[in-house]
Formats: sequence, structure tokens, C-alpha cells
Amino acid sequence: MKISETVTVNEQNHLTIDGKDAMNLIKKYGTPLYVYNVSLIRERARLFVDTFRKLGVKAQVAYASKAFSCIAMCQLAAEEKMSLDVVSGGELFTALRAGFPADRIHFHGNNKSESELRMAINAKIGCIVVDNFYEIECLKRLCGELDTQVSILLRVAPGVEAHTHEYVVTGQEDSKFGFDLFNGQAEEALMKTLDDTFFNVLGVHSHIGSQMFETEGFVLAAEKIFNQLLNWKKKFGYFPEVLNLGGGFGIRYTDEDRPLPVSDYVEVIVEKIKSLAYEARVDIPEIWIEPGRSIVGDAGMTLYKLGSQKTVPNTRQYLTVDGGMGDNIRTALYDAKYTGVLVNRVYDQNETTYAIAGKCCESGDMLIWDLPLPTVKEDDYLAVFSTGAYCYSMASNYNRLPRPAVVFVENGEDKLVVKRESYEDIILNDLQLNEI
Ligand code: LLP
Repeated sequence: MKISETVTVNEQNHLTIDGKDAMNLIKKYGTPLYVYNVSLIRERARLFVDTFRKLGVKAQVAYASKAFSCIAMCQLAAEEKMSLDVVSGGELFTALRAGFPADRIHFHGNNKSESELRMAINAKIGCIVVDNFYEIECLKRLCGELDTQVSILLRVAPGVEAHTHEYVVTGQEDSKFGFDLFNGQAEEALMKTLDDTFFNVLGVHSHIGSQMFETEGFVLAAEKIFNQLLNWKKKFGYFPEVLNLGGGFGIRYTDEDRPLPVSDYVEVIVEKIKSLAYEARVDIPEIWIEPGRSIVGDAGMTLYKLGSQKTVPNTRQYLTVDGGMGDNIRTALYDAKYTGVLVNRVYDQNETTYAIAGKCCESGDMLIWDLPLPTVKEDDYLAVFSTGAYCYSMASNYNRLPRPAVVFVENGEDKLVVKRESYEDIILNDLQLNEI
């Protein structure tokens, strides 16, 4: 039976993930455990890719691997004909080891190191999204040294504020990312790169925020960027091949979230750019986007074993899981909201509202502040939904807790894609104080 778009339950009242009883996964792999519904990831990816195809525009859908990166995920993105956005040497290395086609990798970051850029150039990746003047100079030096040219996008800050949590807004003027579109910086960056033989300027990029539930931000950003592009066309005779509008498409964490179908965002973006191009009598640029959360967010969940409890009379009933901020720091960091159910008793009557705490030595280590559940017994397990994005990728070894394993499930078949860390892994890079 289906309890939501993404979650089903079997006759034993157990949660199932893409046809697999979650209790079997717990028995096989232990907890905490990240589990992904691969069919859902494919569905999300296809909806983006197919919508562009239907609308008949040239496009690239680049999966933002910062949301969740591992070798298997890069391979899945490649299977689904996505491009890949990486933001560090580590993400790039993972993609290359996964055999991801280099020409479909885009490299972001506001402080790429020389060695990261060298790795990207040597791997002949599709493009580098240049963020600042420092990077332009660094790339010039490297291209001279390596006797090569790089394709670039210029990251611009279009001064559009996305309606979302303030910590994830990146497109407003006071931002550490990109060249400001209107104070002359973006134009200066264009002048520095356009006629330089080391650079092939493919176009511009902007990313205005994350977890957005409306399309207005994209429309506004597209308009502002287009106006500036038309100015530049007059001034320099240059019009870009590519317009990349970034990611940020919202997903459902709890019932309060009402995301639009991803096809709606794509349709609005494409129609806007088409009409702007038509009005200005220019060719429609290739449209690139970079969804992260909307590809993997609600396709992932975390399974925990429930443990200790503490009652604070007249205030709260704490219930602890065997993980916490080490595997999901989003509640502590952004006051993110999650929901969940007992894996082994999904439809039992809810009787108690619990505050779900982690096991780290930190009061802020909470996952959910008020989750109604059946009264919990020994050997109950909790599933926290929509943890597929920015949980594994932001995981840490705080308190020297090993990071959980990651399992992919597709049509009833499970596959371990990241091993659980061991205590040996925890001390792998430690050296003795007095090495003999
Ligand atoms: N492109 C760029 C340039 C970005 O900076 C981001 C996210 C994305 C694409 C993907 O955005 P998405 O579609 O996943 O929203 N740690 C935060 C989210 C930070 C997002 C950073 N940039 C969180 O846990 O909510």
C-alpha cells in the first residue's frame, strides 16, 4: 500500500522501499542506514530530461553532486543521461573514478585551488564555471603552462533573492559567489576572457537559491540576465551559447511543503527564455540547469534503531536514535523539518509525540522536535524521510562516530554502494605520537 508518493507499506505493516522490506535491509546492513529508492531517482531525472526534450530546446540537466555524491550515484546520473556539476576536487575525483563522461562535467566553486583546476583541465572536463577574478588569472597561468584552452561559464550574481532559508540564498548582491551582474564586475570578467585565446566563453551561470517552491525567482533571474546579455551583444557583439540557471527546485520534507512538479519549473524557464530570445531576435541559448535535492532528496531515507528515552515532565519526551547530527546535520544547522514512521509498525496508532534526538554530545543534536509515533517498544526502528540530499554529503565523524552505509534499492533488489565506516576507518589517518 502507498502512504505517500514515495513510501509504501507491506502486509506485515513494514515500510518498503522500491519493493524491499526495510526490516530486511536493517537485518542485512545494520543501522543507521541511508537507503535510496533508485526507481524514484530515475523518475525524477527523466522528468527533467524529457521535459526539455519535449519542449524542443537544447539543454543539459546537470545533477548537482554536492547533494549526494558517491561513485554509484555518479554512474546512475550518467545512465540517466544527465551532466554532472561538481564543486571540489573530491567530487571531481569521484566522478572521474565512476567513469562519468568528462565532457559532461561542470566544475563550480568560489575558491578552486590550482591543483583542483589542474585536475579538471587534465581530465578535459566540459566546462569550468568561473567564479572570480582570482580564478581567471589562475586559469590563464595554467592554460599557458599546459598549452591548452578551457571552456568556461561566468557565474553571475543577478541580484535575485530566492524565497527560502537565508543560509542557502546565493544569488543576492551580498554573496560570496560570482560576479555581480550590475556593478561592472561581470562585464569586466567578460572583457578579461572573451578575447583571450585561453578561454572559450560558453555563456553565463546563475544560481539563486535552494528549496524553492515558486518559479518567479527563475523568471526574474532570466530577465535580468537576458537584459545584460543584450547590452553585451550591442557592446561586444557577443551572445552566449549557454544560459545556466542553476538548481534549487524544492521538495517535500513534511506536509507543509508543497513543491511544484519539476516539469512546471522547466516549462516556465524554457517558455521565458524562448520569449525573451524571440523578442530580442536572438537564437535561443542552450539551457542548462543543476538540480540536486530534487533528484535525490525524497528518494532517500535514513533508518535508525531507537534507544534511550528521557522524559522532561510537562515539556518533552526525548527519544534517541543511534545516529544524529553526524549523519544529518540539517535540523541543527537550518532548523530543517523532517517526518518519519516506525519501520516495523507503520500503521500502528500514534500515541505519543517524541522529540527525536541524536547520540552526539551536543544539545542541538536533534533530528525532529515533535514526531507523533506509536508508543515505542524495544526493537523498534525509525525511518526519517527525505534525507537523500545534503545528509550523507554533509555527514561528519563528530564524536568519532563512523558514517553509515548507503544502500540502493531498485525493484526489490538491494545493493550496497557505500560501506559502513569501521572504527579502523576512523583512525586510518591517525599517526602515533611516538612512532617507532
Ligand atoms: N548549483 C549550484 C551552483 C548550487 O550552489 C547548488 C546548491 C545547486 C546547483 C543545487 O541546488 P539544489 O537543487 O540541490 O537545491 N546544504 C543545504 C543546501 C545548500 C545548497 C548549495 N548549493 C541544505 O542542506 O539545504
